[in-house]
Amino acid sequence: MKPRPLARTGKPLFPEAPLEQRAVTGALLTLLEQSSAMPATLSTRVSRAIRMAILNGSLHHGDRLPSTRSLAADLSISRSTAESAYAQLEDEGFLGRSVGNGTYVNAVPARTTPERKKSITDDPGALSLRGRRIDAMGACVDPRETRAFSAGMPALESFPLPTWQRLLARRLRQDGEQLLHYGDQQGLPELREAIASYLALSRGVDCDPGQVIVLTSSQQALVLVSMMLLDGGDKVWMEDPGYRGAQTAFSAAGAQLVPVPIDADGMRIGLALSAAPHARMAYVTPSHQYPLGMTLSLERRLQLIEWARREKSWIVEDDYDSEFHYDSRPVAAIHGLDRHERVLYIGTFSKVMFPGIRVAYLVVPRTLVKAFVAGRSQIDGHTSPLMQAVLADFMNDGHFMAHLRRMRELYRARRDIFLEELHRHAGRTLLPQPMAGGLQAACLLKEPSSHDAGIALRAREAGIDLPLLSGLYLGPQKQHGFVMGFSALTPASIREGMRRLAPILRSDRVR
Ligand SMILES: Cc1ncc(COP(=O)(O)O)c(C=O)c1O
Repeated sequence: MKPRPLARTGKPLFPEAPLEQRAVTGALLTLLEQSSAMPATLSTRVSRAIRMAILNGSLHHGDRLPSTRSLAADLSISRSTAESAYAQLEDEGFLGRSVGNGTYVNAVPARTTPERKKSITDDPGALSLRGRRIDAMGACVDPRETRAFSAGMPALESFPLPTWQRLLARRLRQDGEQLLHYGDQQGLPELREAIASYLALSRGVDCDPGQVIVLTSSQQALVLVSMMLLDGGDKVWMEDPGYRGAQTAFSAAGAQLVPVPIDADGMRIGLALSAAPHARMAYVTPSHQYPLGMTLSLERRLQLIEWARREKSWIVEDDYDSEFHYDSRPVAAIHGLDRHERVLYIGTFSKVMFPGIRVAYLVVPRTLVKAFVAGRSQIDGHTSPLMQAVLADFMNDGHFMAHLRRMRELYRARRDIFLEELHRHAGRTLLPQPMAGGLQAACLLKEPSSHDAGIALRAREAGIDLPLLSGLYLGPQKQHGFVMGFSALTPASIREGMRRLAPILRSDRVR
């Protein structure tokens, strides 16, 4: 059979591809970032992703794959890695290769390997379409330990555990049995009140506690938003690069993601308006764009609100780490500027308290509260009443604001040390983007030809995490570099991490 062309040479692996195929490209890149415990080589990970794309039907019998040269360029890996991934799949019978026809997908081989026997994707009918999309995108993975330079982690050693312990014991003494019951599906009223006052005071969010829904995480908020507001094929404006948790939640719902480039003022609303004027939703991280770090300008905020009013579209404002601005006060939330109830505001305690707390919140327009609480009750009922009660006390007794102030000082100092050390050890290779706040910095590779994935792999072998910036893009135009966390690292571990990273970056330069 004559192979049908799939990817043109020099273009991304799955150009203008349907959702599942684009998701595979993203999954391929993010595999490098996932589970550092996974003892697999880069070529094994690449071959596994291609194998999965074949098994779940994203790649078909006869589809032609790019040359090893193109694959290597698209994924920023070395050509020998691409070659060994293809050779492995040829060995297993998934791919055929011939002079003239290049590399193409074979009929799925009858011979099954032990790994394939274990996989649900062997039976394409086993999962729903939604399940297959989720399976192809893979798990959202968060760092489980503190190490250089995992992104987005707070300084857990500085959390006031004795205070938390005291408040926990007090609550259990006072309301022990009550807190063992099922709780309010919308969230503990005391905590909703504490959140609403905090938001009014610190973020300019004008809401009453009746609009606050307490959830387990921002991720859950994104899933709930998708479940309640998106139908298959709905268009969503997405910052590009952007937060992968949002990309996967909306994609799982069958939405069509519209990548919108970013400049120094944040999402380019003008481009979004021409690409998809009637989109159903826009997802933004306006106070501190994830991952590049800029603030969405006031003019663009107003443009966004005006568009949402006109089109009756929704703005999802993810304010995940706005509390940490180091050089000036953070700009007030879009929510406070909107007079038309088009904004859904997401906040999380993962960064300002600790990720294990599993408490976040969503502020919704009044008209949506009832439906959203019903939706939330279907996912998992409610968040732990005990955690909510202790958190409410922590906020009401003044510990929360004090903790925030201390952490802001600590992170500012760590950011300064991080930048100094980066300049000293990696200044010839990496260019940190301006960072007024946040827990991580996007650091671009100065030489566009540098292999970000290869560097990340070698860094991982040396015990250093370098989350890839390129894995966060939806569109083909990518910048290459790393999203490097600093907030959880003591000055000594920042220095030690940079010292170990320097020779890896140097050896890439001389390749
Ligand atoms: C933009 C953004 N939103 C949300 C989160 C995570 O919040 P949660 O742990 O509540 O899901 C992160 C974590 O890095 C993030 O970068």
